[in-house]
Amino acid sequence: MKKLILGLFMTVLPALTLAAGGSDLHLDTMEPDHTNKPSLQRGAALFTNYCMGCHSLEYARYKRIAEDLEIPDELYEENLIFTGAKIGELIQIGMDKDAAADWFGSAPPDLTLVSRVRGEDWLYSYFRAFYKDDTRPLGVNNAVFSNVGMPHVLVGMQGLCAVPPKIGTNASVDPLSGNVRGTDICDEWAIEGSMEPAEFNRAMYDLTNFLSYMGDPVKVERERLGLLVLIFVAVFFIFAYLLNREYWKDVH
Ligand code: HEC
Repeated sequence: MKKLILGLFMTVLPALTLAAGGSDLHLDTMEPDHTNKPSLQRGAALFTNYCMGCHSLEYARYKRIAEDLEIPDELYEENLIFTGAKIGELIQIGMDKDAAADWFGSAPPDLTLVSRVRGEDWLYSYFRAFYKDDTRPLGVNNAVFSNVGMPHVLVGMQGLCAVPPKIGTNASVDPLSGNVRGTDICDEWAIEGSMEPAEFNRAMYDLTNFLSYMGDPVKVERERLGLLVLIFVAVFFIFAYLLNREYWKDVH
């Protein structure tokens, strides 16, 4: 009995330590949807245009993305490859890591698996959490990643918040008026962006969705196969049960 209790304790121990290790940081949540191809395509375009100057996706190939996102090869090569790379190649960039570390304080990491490390909620919050801070070398800081070395590359779209934005207050619909509350997470803008806050949130949803897909490109296929396997097991069970009954008929 003692052993059993000890065993049980050991099983729940990791969960307890995880729970205790959670930080105070409140994040906005987002639910990735890898079946939403238009969203993933928009995310891929955003990533190619705004992020690939500094961040590689060096564990993925252009062709894989083109196939999964149902973008024809020629269209992909024309619009989403600027480096002259062939579509079968890995997504590498030309930036020298040591020089980049000099410029930004730390080198921009590869982002193929970042959604597995940080999680989607973190990414979705981080992209929207830049704000003006003149004490920092680049004049911006981030409410989710404090003293970050990355510049606010989407300032043209989002604008620049003058105060730390209110991350962790997810948008909700007011049940009485039907108005959406909490889409604008910034109280005061230092620079106006070209997008409305709700529009920018949607763009960041697409970007996060794309990085989520990048970290787990077989998710849709895996879940589809999983369902088929379960159906097979269920059907197989009927035959296994009947066979079992047949074998034991003479014994009982
Ligand atoms: C001018 C170069 C540059 C561009 C462009 C850029 N980043 Fe970064 N990014 C950085 C640097 C440098 C860091 C490292 C920051 C640090 O560690 O302080 C970083 C860090 C990050 C991180 C955090 C990684 C981690 O887990 O620590 C994410 C996520 C990220 N960038 C996503 C993006 C996305 C998405 C875009 C495009 C919208 C983008 N970046 C564009 C330079 C850049």
